[in-house]
Amino acid sequence: MAGRIQLFKPWFEEAEHQALRQPLETGWVGAGPKVKEFEQRFADYVGVKYAIALNSATAALHLAMLVSEVKDREVLTTPMTFVSTNHAILYAGGHPVFCDVEPGTLNVDPADLERRITPRTRALVVVHYAGHPCAMDEVVAIARRHSLTLIEDAAQACGGEYGGRKLGTIGDIGCFSFESKKNLSTGDGGMFVTDDEAVAERVRKLRWMGISRGTWDRFNNGHPARAWEYEVEEVGFKYGMNDIAAALGLVQLEKLERANTMRRAVVERYRQALAGLKGIELFDQRAYGGSAHYSMIIKADQRDALCDHLAAHEIESAVHFYPNHLLPIYQPYITPLPVVEAEWRRILTIPLYPHLAAASQDRVIACIRDFAAGAAS
Ligand SMILES: Cc1ncc(COP(=O)(O)O)c(C=O)c1O
Repeated sequence: MAGRIQLFKPWFEEAEHQALRQPLETGWVGAGPKVKEFEQRFADYVGVKYAIALNSATAALHLAMLVSEVKDREVLTTPMTFVSTNHAILYAGGHPVFCDVEPGTLNVDPADLERRITPRTRALVVVHYAGHPCAMDEVVAIARRHSLTLIEDAAQACGGEYGGRKLGTIGDIGCFSFESKKNLSTGDGGMFVTDDEAVAERVRKLRWMGISRGTWDRFNNGHPARAWEYEVEEVGFKYGMNDIAAALGLVQLEKLERANTMRRAVVERYRQALAGLKGIELFDQRAYGGSAHYSMIIKADQRDALCDHLAAHEIESAVHFYPNHLLPIYQPYITPLPVVEAEWRRILTIPLYPHLAAASQDRVIACIRDFAAGAAS
């Protein structure tokens, strides 16, 4: 056997190693010039006025819920996500209202979303599942019709597009993840984006304890003798990014389009090789946008048996996600969701990363084809 094939793998090269030298050599490893540069470059890349670097998408989602004032109000959401999306609603004192999804993409079903709006609804959060864009024309129209704040959880969608705009910039607030295995990886990290100046100003304070000016600004852009002076305007958090992560982020951002093109090529190869296999179904790829291809998810009638078969051949696979509304902690918010409940039992994530070698991918494909042939006979 030729060794274990991982599910995800960040794509780090010599440039990332080099990028770490500067913060380590200058000794400025906290939030400083690299964070500022990364924020500016990211804002330019996605096309927003304000990008605020954080230590995770979870932090971005939490702050999104706080500034959207969801306390004691309902937030429309999906159960097909990492729990961060829904925990963020709870952190801010809101009530998650779970919506059903479209079977072809597992993205939120706009019709079901609109049906669940009540006078208590304050906001909605959409997740671009596996990097594939939600039906944003319908979602935006619903948000506007009902005066709801629209938050995009673009944790899996960095570089994806819809109607010529980058995912994460179509709603009022976008939240990105730079966690270890994401399209753009800084080990851990996140970005909050918005075009709203007041929201950006508040999030900048909330990310660092509610303090009005960061250390770098106080020491470099103020009166040097008064660099210790600051105001604390509200109880904030320790959510900022540091210059080590930002230095990595700058390099990863530079190669994001290339990495996503490589991801697309891997996905297309899988789709050709796995199309039409008995007991295996591929997700829809909608013409309205471009996926970021964060993960490759297939549907298999005998999902658990296929997972075991891959494991026996040293190929990792996993299920993303256990539907959040079925988790014990979310029982107060449980509601029947027929599509989620039928489809999640068939989903399986298989290896995908930009530099997945063709020989490794061929092993994954052969293993799935063997399984399908066995199941069919
Ligand atoms: C859809 C989604 N939302 C939020 C998150 C949380 O991201 P982070 O780990 O940066 O907090 C993730 C990470 O897996 C995710 O996939």
